[in-house]
Amino acid sequence: MELLAKRLVVLSEAQPLPYSMDEDAKVREELRLKYRYLDLRRPQLQKALRFRHQVQMAAEKYLNGDGFTCIETPMLCKSTPEGARDYLVPSRVHPGKFYALPQSPQIFKQMLMVGGMDKYYQVARCFRDEDLRADRQPEFTQVDIEMSFVEGDDVCDMMEGVMAETLKAVGVTDVAFPLQKMQYADAMRDYGCDRPDVRFGMLLHDITDIVKDTGFKVFASVAQSGGVVKAINVKGAGDWSRGEVEKLAGIAEANGAKGMAWVAFTTDGQEKSPIKKFFTDEEWAALKAEMEVEPGDLLLFAADKPEIANAVLSALRLHMADAMNIPREGHALLWVVNFPMFRYDEDEKKYAAEHHPFTHVLKEDLDKIESDPLACGSYSYDLVMDGFEVGGGTIRIHNAEEQRRILRVVGLTDEEIDEKFGHLIRALELGAPPHGGIALGLDRLVMLLARKDSIRDVIAFPKTSSASDPMTGAPSAVTGRQLKDVSLRIL
Ligand code: AMO
Ligand code: AMP
Repeated sequence: MELLAKRLVVLSEAQPLPYSMDEDAKVREELRLKYRYLDLRRPQLQKALRFRHQVQMAAEKYLNGDGFTCIETPMLCKSTPEGARDYLVPSRVHPGKFYALPQSPQIFKQMLMVGGMDKYYQVARCFRDEDLRADRQPEFTQVDIEMSFVEGDDVCDMMEGVMAETLKAVGVTDVAFPLQKMQYADAMRDYGCDRPDVRFGMLLHDITDIVKDTGFKVFASVAQSGGVVKAINVKGAGDWSRGEVEKLAGIAEANGAKGMAWVAFTTDGQEKSPIKKFFTDEEWAALKAEMEVEPGDLLLFAADKPEIANAVLSALRLHMADAMNIPREGHALLWVVNFPMFRYDEDEKKYAAEHHPFTHVLKEDLDKIESDPLACGSYSYDLVMDGFEVGGGTIRIHNAEEQRRILRVVGLTDEEIDEKFGHLIRALELGAPPHGGIALGLDRLVMLLARKDSIRDVIAFPKTSSASDPMTGAPSAVTGRQLKDVSLRIL
C-alpha cells in the first residue's frame, strides 16, 4: 500500500536503535534489559504481560466471588528471621534502626485472622535477598491468601477453585480436578524431590536391600552405614558410549555425589558396566528384576545419605528427560502434602523449619517437638506444576505455647522470641482462631502457563541474576548527605 501524504507531522524523533528489533535477532539479555522499554515493544513480551494480566485477573475474580477481601499489608516491616535474607531499609527518624521489606505478608495475614478479617487475599510483592535462579527474583509477586476456621483440605479446595478459574481463562483444558495429593515421603522416595515433574516416569528405585552384601564395597558400606543405594532406569540410552555416560557423573557430583556407577544394556544384548564384576549372579538378577531391565536401558546409581542420593538422581532424571527428548507437553498439577516440620541445617548446625516456623505440627507429633524434631510432621501443602513449586501453604499455629516451642527448636532463646516475635505471641495469647493459608507464586505460574524458560520473561522490569537493573543502574551509590540522614557510613 502506498500513501500520499498531504501533511506529515513528526511527533517524536528516534535515533538509530541500539540493537535490531527483529524477533529472532540474538541480543544479549543484559542489553535487552538495559533498553527494556524497547524490548517491551516486541510482540512476545507484549503478549506475555497481557497474558500475566489475564492470569492475575482470573485468580482475583475467583477470590472476589468467593467472599475474600483484598487487604494491603505494610512494606516497611520488622526484620524477622523467616528463611531468606531480608532487604533492609534504614530509618532516618530512629538512627541505627532498620525496617525490613517483607519476605511475604505471613505474620500480617495471621494478624488479620486474629483481627477477624477471616477471608483475606492480596496480590503482594515480596522481597528476598537470596541467590537467584531462572525461577527466582529478588522481588516477586504472590497471590497471598489466609482463612480462619479451616483445615488443610479446605485451603487446597479453595486453591483448586482459583486454579480452575485461572486455567480456564487462559485456555488450558488438560488439568483434571480434584488434584492428586502426594505424600511428601512418597515424592522423595519416587522422585527424589518435593516438586516432582510427574509428566514422565523414570522413577527412583531403592535397591539398598539388593546390594547390602555385594562385593562392590562402595554400595555395601553405604547400605550398611544407614545410607541408601538408589537407581533410575533411562530407557533408550543403553547404546550411549562410555564417554557420554561418564560425563553424566559431572551432574551427579555437582549435586553432592562422590561418583556415579552405571550399567548399560545395549540393544544388541551386551551388558557394559564398571561394577558388574562385583555382583553375584543372584544380586545381578535381583537388580535387573527390580529395575525392569530391557535391552536399550541405562541404569544410573547413587549411593549416599538419602538427601544426597535423592538430589543426585532427581537431577539426573530431569537431565535425562531432556537428553532423551521425553515429551512433556501438557501441564501436570498436584499437591505434595505433609512435609516434615523441621530439617537439620548442616551449614548452620541447627534445626530449621522446612516451611516456616508458624506451621502447625501434626497433632500426633506434638509431644516430639523437643525430643525428636526430625520425626515431626506438619500440616503443609505445596502446589506443584510441571516440576516447579508454584504455591505453598500451611495450617498455622494458633496457640502461643506451641509457637514458643517451635521457635526454641529453631534456635531462638526466650529473649529473642520476645524481641523478634513478641507481637505474634501476644496476638496468639489474646485468642486466635484456627487458621491457615497459602501463597501462589504468580510469576512462576505465569512462566509455566506461558511456556517461558525464565520468570524474567513474564516480568515487565526484572532484575538480572546478580540482582541489578541495567536500565536504571540500581543498585547504586547514594550521596553522603543521604547516608548522613540515615546515620550510616560505608565500610
Ligand atoms: P513460600 O516461601 O513457599 O511461602 O512462597 C510461596 C510461593 O512464592 C513463590 N516464590 C518465588 N517466586 C519467585 N521468586 C522467588 N524468589 C520466590 N520465592 C518464592 C513460589 C512459592 O511457592 N508465607 C508463605 C506462604 C504461606 O504459608 O501462606 C510463603 O511465602 O512459587
Ligand atoms: P571406583 O571403584 O571408585 O572406581 O568406583 C566404581 C564406580 O562406582 C564408578 O563409576 C564411580 O563413579 C561409582 N561410584 C563411586 N562412588 C559412588 C557412589 N557413592 N554412588 C554411586 N556410584 C559411585
